[in-house]
Amino acid sequence: MEQAAKVEEIKGKALGEIAGCADEAALIRVHNAYLAKKSELSALMGAMKSVPPTERASFGKAINDCRKAIEAAYSEKEKAIKAAVLARKLEAETIDISLPPRERKIGHVNPYYQIIDEMTDIFVGMGFEVKEGRDVETDHYNFELLNVPKDHPARDMQDTFYITDSLLLRTQTSAAQAHAMVEKADKGPIKMICPGKCYRRDDDDVTHSHQFGQIEGLVVDKGVSLADLKGTLELFVKKMFGEKRQIRLRSSYFPFTEPSVEVDVSCAHCGGKGCDMCKGTGWIEILGAGEVHPNVLRMCGYDPEVYSGFAFGVGVERIAILRYGIDDIRRFYQNDERFLKDYLEK
Ligand code: DAH
Repeated sequence: MEQAAKVEEIKGKALGEIAGCADEAALIRVHNAYLAKKSELSALMGAMKSVPPTERASFGKAINDCRKAIEAAYSEKEKAIKAAVLARKLEAETIDISLPPRERKIGHVNPYYQIIDEMTDIFVGMGFEVKEGRDVETDHYNFELLNVPKDHPARDMQDTFYITDSLLLRTQTSAAQAHAMVEKADKGPIKMICPGKCYRRDDDDVTHSHQFGQIEGLVVDKGVSLADLKGTLELFVKKMFGEKRQIRLRSSYFPFTEPSVEVDVSCAHCGGKGCDMCKGTGWIEILGAGEVHPNVLRMCGYDPEVYSGFAFGVGVERIAILRYGIDDIRRFYQNDERFLKDYLEK
């Protein structure tokens, strides 16, 4: 029986090809070739008419058995190929737990903020309260209440970023002392510091930055004198730079203080003999200060006949530069990782 032999031959060929398939795509090609409508097997089925009626049943069964055998071989092979693919994937993605871990980079507090923390701690230790100011200020608080009216020549000391006629980027944290006095409901004693950023239209260079940090200090009470200011700043300097450091007050001018002083610290580099660092003077200027001007007290709601006060404003970067020996103020803002690491917790 020629056709039955043909079925067997097809089956043999199909099973052989399935066995030889290396991947799913090849397997699907074989499947389609042997079981599709136009396959040899389907053609044989169509030739049923030419089979003698007595043999038709067994012929039909032979074709069906052949189809089933091909299907069975196909699914077996499909399973095997999938298993092999998975095994290869698992092998490729194996994690070697004996490898050393990658180094994790940990962020650190910028030296600028380290110094603010340190300075704040020292003043808090002396009983100062820490206030928060605002970067965007009104002209009123930044200048007017500090005894600097619109046409005052002292406005030229600070080149201001104006937002509108009355709004500006704070040029000095001194604005915070006006806030503290105005907002003190009982008009009683004040002892506060306010760290914050200030902004001026300066060209950036080694010692200037259009953005910089200040810490403002203000003490208001009955009988507060310049001696209190000196004692407070002396203690601050010794805690910050070491017991051996001394300060001196030099007469100066600020519109919001009378008398006004500039405070110098003895040069650590040369011990006061004079060097490049202190430009040969033995002293380095660190801050401005003075007794709160009676006009300022009055405008902020305090009676200057009853109350007096002292105030100071200290540059954060200036202190950090002296403390760490940093050569360029711009380093604080450049986010150079090597710099940040260098000045870590020193
Ligand atoms: N505001 C001044 C400045 O930015 C610094 C200053 C001087 C603040 C004297 C004060 C002070 O509180 O009393 O240059």
